[in-house]
Amino acid sequence: MDFVADPAVDPSARRHVDDGIVVVADGRIEAAGPASALLPGLADVDVVDHRGRILMPGFIDAHIHYPQMEMIASHGEQLLAWLRRYTFPTETRFGDRAYAEGIAEAFLDELLRNGTTTAVVMGSVHPVSAEVIFAAAQRRGLRLVAGQTMMDRNVPESLQDTPQSAYDAAAALIEAWHERPGTRLHYAVTPRFAASSSPAQLRLAAQLRREHPGVFVHTHWAENREEIDWVRQLYPQSASYLRIYDDFELLGPRTVLAHGVHTEPDDLEVLGRTGATVALCPSSNMFLGSGLFDLPRLRRAGVSLAIGTDVGAGTSFSMLRTLADAYKVTQLRRAVYDEPDARALAVDEAFYLVTLGGARALGFEGSIGRLSPGMEADFVVLDPQATPLLALRTSRAESLDERLFALMMLGDDRAVAATYVQGQRQDVAGRLPGGSGVR
Ligand code: GUN
Ligand code: ZN
Repeated sequence: MDFVADPAVDPSARRHVDDGIVVVADGRIEAAGPASALLPGLADVDVVDHRGRILMPGFIDAHIHYPQMEMIASHGEQLLAWLRRYTFPTETRFGDRAYAEGIAEAFLDELLRNGTTTAVVMGSVHPVSAEVIFAAAQRRGLRLVAGQTMMDRNVPESLQDTPQSAYDAAAALIEAWHERPGTRLHYAVTPRFAASSSPAQLRLAAQLRREHPGVFVHTHWAENREEIDWVRQLYPQSASYLRIYDDFELLGPRTVLAHGVHTEPDDLEVLGRTGATVALCPSSNMFLGSGLFDLPRLRRAGVSLAIGTDVGAGTSFSMLRTLADAYKVTQLRRAVYDEPDARALAVDEAFYLVTLGGARALGFEGSIGRLSPGMEADFVVLDPQATPLLALRTSRAESLDERLFALMMLGDDRAVAATYVQGQRQDVAGRLPGGSGVR
C-alpha cells in the first residue's frame, strides 16, 4: 500500500494491491503489482511471504533527539523546566564518543524495530555526537538527516558552544558527511531554538546555509507559551517567533521546524513563502502539556507538514502510536476550542504524512515514500494480527480503512513484522534475514 499523491487533494491517491508483490534488486524497487502478474516472470528469486500483512514505505520521523532516548518518560515538568531538570544533564554525556556510540546503536535499533527508516535527528552540542550517529547510520545504509545542536547561551555552561566553535564544527561535519556519494546522509544546521542561540550564532548558522546550499536547517519553533514569551523578549526586533528565523534567513524548503503549536496569523504567509516544513509532534505536546496544534488549518493553508515523535519528550518511537496521538489532538481540539466542524485526522492523511507526505516535506520524494520502480526499497511490514486485540478488531473490519485505523490506534512496535532498508531485512527483533523478493 502507498500513496501517489496527497489524499486530501486527490481522494484516489491511495494504491493498494490485495495480494501484491514488490520486486527488489540492488536496494531499489524493480517492480510492484499483483502477485498473479509478477510472480510468473520471476525465476531464481527468493520470495519472502508476508501474506496477511500490509507492506508500505518505511516510516519517516521528522523530529527526534537521539541523546534523549535514555531520559524518555521523565516525570512532572513542562518544557523549560524539563530541559533544565532532565534534558541538559543527560545530553552532557554525549561528549564521550564511546558513550554516544552505544546510544546511537540502540537508537537506530529502536527506530527500525518501529518501522522507521528515515529520521531527522538532533544530536547534542558535541560535534562527536553527530559524527557517531552518521557513522552508525552509514553502516546500516540508512537515510538520516542529523546535526550537532548549536547553543551558545541560556544553557548550562558545560553545554555551551560559541558561534565560532559551532560554525567550525558544523563546517567540518558537512565536509565529512553531507550527501557524500554512496551515502544517504544529510547534514542539518541545528540551532536548538532561538532562546539558546545568540544573534551572532543565528547569523553564522545562516552563513553555513549560504555556503553549503542543500544542507538542512533543523530547530524548534512555537512549542510552549512560556518559551514563546521568553523568545520574544530575547528578540524584540522580530515581529514574531517565526520572523526571527525568517529575519536571520534560516527558512527555506529544507528547514524543519519542530512543533508550531501556538501560531500567529502571519505565520502561514511566512511558511508559504519560504516552504519551510513544520514537524508536528503530538505525543510530545501532550506529554509536556504544550498544547493542541491546529492540523486542519495548517493543511488547508498548504503548509509543508510531517510528523515527529520528538523522543525524549515524545513517549514512543512508534509512528503508529504517534499517529494515534495526532488523531486524539485533532479530536481534543474540536472540543476544547469549540470547533465542532473541524475534522478528526483521516486515516489516509495520517499514513500519507508518515510516508509520501514526509518524504515530500523533506524533499526526498524522488527516492523514498512510494512503492514505485526506481525508488529505494525501504519498507515497513505491518501485521494486523499482531496482538489479540488487533486481531479481534481486524476480524470485524469491513474495509482497508478500518484495518489501517485499527493499526494506527492499537499498534506499536509489536505490529511491525519486518523492516527493510534498501531491500535488506533488518534483524532488529530477532527475526531471520530475508531475500530479495518481498511479498
Ligand atoms: N526546545 C528546545 N529544546 C528542546 C528539546 O530538547 N525538546 C523539545 N521538545 N523542545 C525543545
Ligand atoms: Zn525536539
